[in-house]
Amino acid sequence: MSDMTCSIAGVHFKNPIVMASGTFGFGREYGSLYDINRLGGICGKGLTLNPKEGNSGFRVYETPSGMLNSVGLENPGVTAFLREECEYWAGLNLARIANLGGNTLEDYVEGARLIEEDALLRKTSGKQAVDMIELNISCPNVKAGGLAYGIKTEIAREVVRKIRQATTLPLMIKLSPNAEDIVQMALMCQEEGADAVSLVNTFSAMKIDIHKRRSVFDNLYAGLSGPAIKPIALRMVHQVSKAVTIPVVGMGGIQSAEDILEYIMAGAAVVQVGTHNFVNLRAGADLIDELQILMEREKIESLDEIRGIV
Ligand SMILES: Cc1cc2nc3c(=O)[nH]c(=O)nc-3n(C[C@H](O)[C@H](O)[C@H](O)COP(=O)(O)O)c2cc1C
Repeated sequence: MSDMTCSIAGVHFKNPIVMASGTFGFGREYGSLYDINRLGGICGKGLTLNPKEGNSGFRVYETPSGMLNSVGLENPGVTAFLREECEYWAGLNLARIANLGGNTLEDYVEGARLIEEDALLRKTSGKQAVDMIELNISCPNVKAGGLAYGIKTEIAREVVRKIRQATTLPLMIKLSPNAEDIVQMALMCQEEGADAVSLVNTFSAMKIDIHKRRSVFDNLYAGLSGPAIKPIALRMVHQVSKAVTIPVVGMGGIQSAEDILEYIMAGAAVVQVGTHNFVNLRAGADLIDELQILMEREKIESLDEIRGIV
């Protein structure tokens, strides 16, 4: 059997397949379809300090080879997550990653502080529920008139620095492909002490209803994901992997074991799978089986052998 294990900042992944934030809830529903403990890890739905209702109007729209989403980070808030989901997470045997967003610096920091406090309490009782924080810097910065934190490196630096100070948990920064310079952004995260970077989040995109003569989305623009973005995301993962020394988590359009190997060969430590969960509800289980077969067929004994080989 080929060795599929990986590790990031001391967190063990039994295989490189991690479910991407916002496409897998907190795992419960998928847990009734297959044994999610087979996965390398899960990223929970993006959390904000306070509960969020999300955007009005259409939230998803299918496009050729992809989808647009304008969910607007609907979520129960950090406190409800810690109260209602963490017992479930504590019983899971896979890498559990809490995805944190925020509209203000204060919200980000308080959210991280609450997760940290809970993690420390749980550590003493041996019921750990969160192994890592994934910081989503694609959120709109209220003070900067709604421009996302993840666009300009120096604005993002402030958030990364403050969150690094607020938590002892392994910290992964999720980068936006809409960043002015994604390589500079990743280097900044490394300088500020991040343990890893993950990329990419969705591409800012649009769909117009010609009959109504307006955008399909109340929020005007939406985020594009799925196979349509894979070649661009793969190029970005390759560029970032060559520039940083911290682990890079790759994602964007993965729907086959071949796609996973491409990302690993581009330099990814592990990968995340998002949109494909909506195409195949058992995507996680199927990809694990397919990857095992493909690695054996390609005579790859371990992922370390091919990581970053291109
Ligand atoms: C419906 C939907 C909701 C998402 N919600 C979040 C979120 O809450 N936080 C986040 O960091 N990324 C979120 N994402 C982005 C995904 O985690 C992932 O970065 C992106 O979709 C690219 O991967 P994919 O092409 O495999 O879907 C969301 C994506 C989709 C499609």
